[in-house]
Amino acid sequence: MSEQTMTAPVDAQALEFPDYIRNERAKEFIRTQVAICKPDAVYFCDGSQEEYDRLCNLMVDTGTFIRLNPELRPNSFLARSDPSDVARVEDRTFICSINKDDAGPTNNWMNPREMHEILDGLFDGCMRGRTMYVVPFSMGPLGSHISYIGIETTDSPYVVVNMKIMTRMGKAVYDVLGETGDFVPCVHTVGAPLEPGQQDVSWPCNPTTKYIVHFPEERSIISYGSGYGGNALLGKKCLALRIASVIGRDEGWLAEHMLILGVEDPNGQKTYVAAAFPSACGKTNFAMLIPPTEMEGWKVTTIGDDIAWIKPGPDGHLYAINPEAGYFGVAPGTSYATNSNAMESLKANTIFTNVALTPEGDVWWEGMTKEPPASAIDWQGKEWTPDSGRPSAHPNARFTSPANQNPAIDPEWENPNGVLIKAFIFGGRRTTVVPLICQAFNWSFGVYMGATMGSERTAAAFGKLGEVRRDPLAMLPFMGYHMASYFNHWLDIGRRIADPPRIFSVNWFRKDENGKFLWPGFSQNMRILKWIVERANGRGYGTESPLGYMPRYENIDWRGMEDFSEEQFQELMAIDRDMWNQEILLHEELFIKLHDRLPNEFLAMRQLLLSNLWRSAEHWEMGAGGYNT
Ligand code: OXD
Ligand code: MN
Repeated sequence: MSEQTMTAPVDAQALEFPDYIRNERAKEFIRTQVAICKPDAVYFCDGSQEEYDRLCNLMVDTGTFIRLNPELRPNSFLARSDPSDVARVEDRTFICSINKDDAGPTNNWMNPREMHEILDGLFDGCMRGRTMYVVPFSMGPLGSHISYIGIETTDSPYVVVNMKIMTRMGKAVYDVLGETGDFVPCVHTVGAPLEPGQQDVSWPCNPTTKYIVHFPEERSIISYGSGYGGNALLGKKCLALRIASVIGRDEGWLAEHMLILGVEDPNGQKTYVAAAFPSACGKTNFAMLIPPTEMEGWKVTTIGDDIAWIKPGPDGHLYAINPEAGYFGVAPGTSYATNSNAMESLKANTIFTNVALTPEGDVWWEGMTKEPPASAIDWQGKEWTPDSGRPSAHPNARFTSPANQNPAIDPEWENPNGVLIKAFIFGGRRTTVVPLICQAFNWSFGVYMGATMGSERTAAAFGKLGEVRRDPLAMLPFMGYHMASYFNHWLDIGRRIADPPRIFSVNWFRKDENGKFLWPGFSQNMRILKWIVERANGRGYGTESPLGYMPRYENIDWRGMEDFSEEQFQELMAIDRDMWNQEILLHEELFIKLHDRLPNEFLAMRQLLLSNLWRSAEHWEMGAGGYNT
């Protein structure tokens, strides 16, 4: 569609809509936003490749994008953000439910009326001198009964092209919407209006004021001041997690911060599992895992790497879909050694943000190759060499690449009915305390396990690096309502479904006293995944520990890793009673915070856990006996 450049600003009442927008509520929403934001032009995105290419070229011209060497990285671009705008801003993220208690103590809250007043002030004229892009998108396959539609108004062409990769974006969405269909209004601005004649910068944003706001009752999202990732691509964390978690609570399903993968055994039997890990704990790597060659016949395929919508099917079992269409992955650490499927996914048609630029016009980041380039331009546009004493890429640098470029994509990844989930995995980043693998005794214990998981902080999370924070089900930054109501929702789902999936806890990150990782991780995680899949299918052996069922050394497939000794395995699996007593005190801290809505079951489970830890020490030390199951 056309760009409507009128005398600035655009007259909202005179706005001409393309014929294919027939939804009056959508038109009214767009008109209102135009009237408030006062852009110089309005552009209706159609989602075509031609449009994508045109916007990328425009951003090359304005300096937002650098086109990478087309021979090395075809149709790919590098963006460098403002140093003040490099990650999600959790302290500026709000859940504005009418009732403060509904947001719960883990969310920032403000009265929705007060928040609207603040935002009205900030949004008045916020797009002066800029174009407003109207971005229609579907989370989930277009037209599927489980999908949700959003319309995002934004003044960032960077957001538009990222939304094209991350969602099903384009004018076909309006056909699905028809005249009366429903959508989630998503309002975004970088918060940097231009005065007449003012020169734009390559990454406009508001360096001092940012608001990422959700209105659960209105089912709407307003984001001000940032152009980065989850702050600005509103389909992802804002719609598919925070708003969808509220819809899921009301409708009886789950919107989760989970990857979904398929495991095929040598007989061709496929088992799907969903796994929750906090941000930057290797979810994309796990979702694209390549089994060690010695484990012949085992194969892993990807449904999704970040978000799962999980619903009870007509048969009472849980089915999951990935509502996204692309990967917004953490670049540093990604390599052919750690994740060759990701590297293949980003060979072309990819947007890189805050990575380094090599002299050949390709990208680089810490960990991408063993040998760093002799020189590069770092993520801030400065000359860099390996001796510079600083990383060349920002630790939260990202790639945005289409999911269908993943060589391991699962054939069912767009099945609107989802895939049958047999197991849930919860994993944090813990250097001590939490064993490599443990299966919860049952659904309720599993929910307790997920609710009490913790992780050491990383670049994507706000706060002090290295400090442990409780991150229940990896949803702390993404919950749209009271965390303890969410626990009740999970317990309730377990009571209502047939044969609840088995629940497991994993920890790839345990270290010895010298700070050395005890577990090699990456493709070797397949050995643990195999045990999980066997257990989830009612096969596979283990022993009972105070925390749940655990594999013995001989229950794990060690083909190709025979030099990993039983002693090393015991060290990884050890449950230290004193440390666990401390850990349970930390559970208690979380429970006190959430006490007004905490499930009664959790107190009983905590007591059982304590009792297990006290009663059977001589039995559960791995290798010292235990109970066969
Ligand atoms: C993400 C995150 O970007 O969890 O996926 O922060
Ligand atoms: Mn995530």
